[in-house]
Amino acid sequence: MTRALVLYAHPCPESFNAAVHSAVVEALTARGWDVDDCDLNTEGFIPVLTELERRGYHDEPDNIGPVKEYVERLRAAEALVMVFPVWNFGYPAILKGFLDRVFLPGVSFKLQDGGVRPGLTNIKRLAACTTYGGTRMRAMLNGDPPRKCVTRAVWYACGMPKKRYIALYDMNNNQEPQLKAHLERVTREMEAL
Ligand SMILES: Cc1cc2nc3c(=O)[nH]c(=O)nc-3n(C[C@H](O)[C@H](O)[C@H](O)COP(=O)(O)O)c2cc1C
Repeated sequence: MTRALVLYAHPCPESFNAAVHSAVVEALTARGWDVDDCDLNTEGFIPVLTELERRGYHDEPDNIGPVKEYVERLRAAEALVMVFPVWNFGYPAILKGFLDRVFLPGVSFKLQDGGVRPGLTNIKRLAACTTYGGTRMRAMLNGDPPRKCVTRAVWYACGMPKKRYIALYDMNNNQEPQLKAHLERVTREMEAL
């Protein structure tokens, strides 16, 4: 059975992102994926890269020590699915901190011949399910950083796998029909992952 790591970052169980998260886990499980459901808030993930970790950031392989369990979970996955709301045109801090602390040299990238090479080539499928309060146009006018971070930086770190960016914009105005349609889209996309 192939493993999918779901990285979920929203603190509220009643949120729309919680509904997206459930749809993701249910669809993947139904399709036979072995889902490693990583709810960063529930697991109490600490997002701050400490002084000690920054000093040892390039010291492979000891640099993985403080986050070994998470590195192992990343390395065991063939699919990575990120579920998060857009906050300040970026990831919620807890997810940004996961990337800071776990996407380490020797893990998500390797420095070779003066260049950066992908480290997480075990990941063959990458998806992000996210929501924005503002419209797509407003996000574009701000450069839409989360879209670029996922579909460029994380995608490259994973060895440029097949990718899906499943975004719902305009949450400030969306009503029940749009929310329902989006959950159906999430289910379809995960079934086809
Ligand atoms: C701290 C915070 C920052 C936010 N920043 C943005 C932003 O920069 N751009 C945007 O489009 N929406 C922003 N929003 C709106 C969220 O994206 C929106 O509340 C979320 O997508 C709704 O999903 P939820 O009901 O699951 O929380 C922000 C919301 C919060 C709470």
